[in-house]
Amino acid sequence: MGQLFLNKVQKFYGDFEVLKSVQLDVKNGEFVVFVGPSGCGKSTLLRMIAGLDETSAGDIVIDGVRVNDLPPVKRGIAMVFQSYALYPHMTVFENIAFPLRVEKMEEEKLKAKVENAARILHLDQRLQQKPGMLSGGQRQRVAIGRAIVREPKIFLFDEPLSNLDAALRADMRIELAKLHRQLKATMIYVTHDQVEAMTMADRIVVLNNGDIAQTGAPLELYHKPANIFVAGFIGNPKMNFLPVICTAISDAGLTVDYKGQTLTVPATPRPDAVGQTLTLGVRPEHIHLASGDISLTVVPSVIERLGAQTVAYASLDGESENFCATLPGSVGVRPEQPLLAGINAVDCHLFDEAGIAFERRVELTDIDMTLLAPTALA
Ligand SMILES: Nc1ncnc2c1ncn2[C@@H]1O[C@H](COP(=O)(O)OP(=O)(O)OP(=O)(O)O)[C@@H](O)[C@H]1O
Ligand SMILES: [Mg+2]
Repeated sequence: MGQLFLNKVQKFYGDFEVLKSVQLDVKNGEFVVFVGPSGCGKSTLLRMIAGLDETSAGDIVIDGVRVNDLPPVKRGIAMVFQSYALYPHMTVFENIAFPLRVEKMEEEKLKAKVENAARILHLDQRLQQKPGMLSGGQRQRVAIGRAIVREPKIFLFDEPLSNLDAALRADMRIELAKLHRQLKATMIYVTHDQVEAMTMADRIVVLNNGDIAQTGAPLELYHKPANIFVAGFIGNPKMNFLPVICTAISDAGLTVDYKGQTLTVPATPRPDAVGQTLTLGVRPEHIHLASGDISLTVVPSVIERLGAQTVAYASLDGESENFCATLPGSVGVRPEQPLLAGINAVDCHLFDEAGIAFERRVELTDIDMTLLAPTALA
């Protein structure tokens, strides 16, 4: 088993509150990814779960047992860091075997465990080599092997792939997803990489300033961000935001005005919305080069041709690069040539003055709730 419950977990460094009453329930076998801006407390939270940092208040509960006062080795947790933390003078075999040596495991059993981990991680041919002879990806696999042999209830990963080049990261991402399926272990994974978060997670926890901004399945966060912070954080390039005035609400949603153009966004209104200045959000990938429910003229300043897509960073109303559109790869756009950017109401998000989203009425065919968490075990 590997259930984790964080109950009002807080962390202070002196007077500085790094984590503010974090509440989170992780199911056995779930793959949970923590994301958030640098310094928001991701590593601190992971280290507290591992027992490497003390908890200032609240409870850390693993499989029903409060572990706040247990030392790291007694928590049934293994942590893999960005820096592989391998012993350079030891062979791959001995690096993987290290925690078992500490436990004084009998040689035959130890050998079987190390060989099994090496097979899972495709390191069988490397066992007698030293870390210095390995690539970054292979070294990270050794570090993961060292975690696997401990058979932890919960794996904690702190940006394990961030030292690897793009191709290796993509390979390791797939390897880790397979490993999760194979071991069926609970995994908590910190990353800065949106693709890793979106593709690996059963559930993403977005942290901001030591608070959970939203927890949800990747597509739930993408389609239904609960607030402007998550809307801007999930998705790349970032969502565009425009100030609008709410002029009416109805069963169809909220009608808003942007400089004389109106559109009705299918979202659940709140009665006090009328008259308020709201923020309309639309993702770059939802901009069309044609008229939409509202149409804007924007002037691209930078065009990035990525092959499959073209990203135009443009200015709206003379403000530099405050608007972004992700367009088809072969589109004939040029810097300084004005574009017609069409926005359709169904693609829009709306946020109130406090940045809280009005719940979107998105088609469930886009987000089939039954398919959101395929690998989480109830
Ligand atoms: N030992 C410490 N003493 C004082 N402050 C600390 C200590 N460790 C971390 N902090 C502070 O706590 C905050 C959270 O740090 P943490 O390392 O958890 O951030 P993070 O989300 O992992 O960031 P990054 O994405 O850059 O790794 C930061 O403001 C950091 O300066
Ligand atoms: Mg960190």
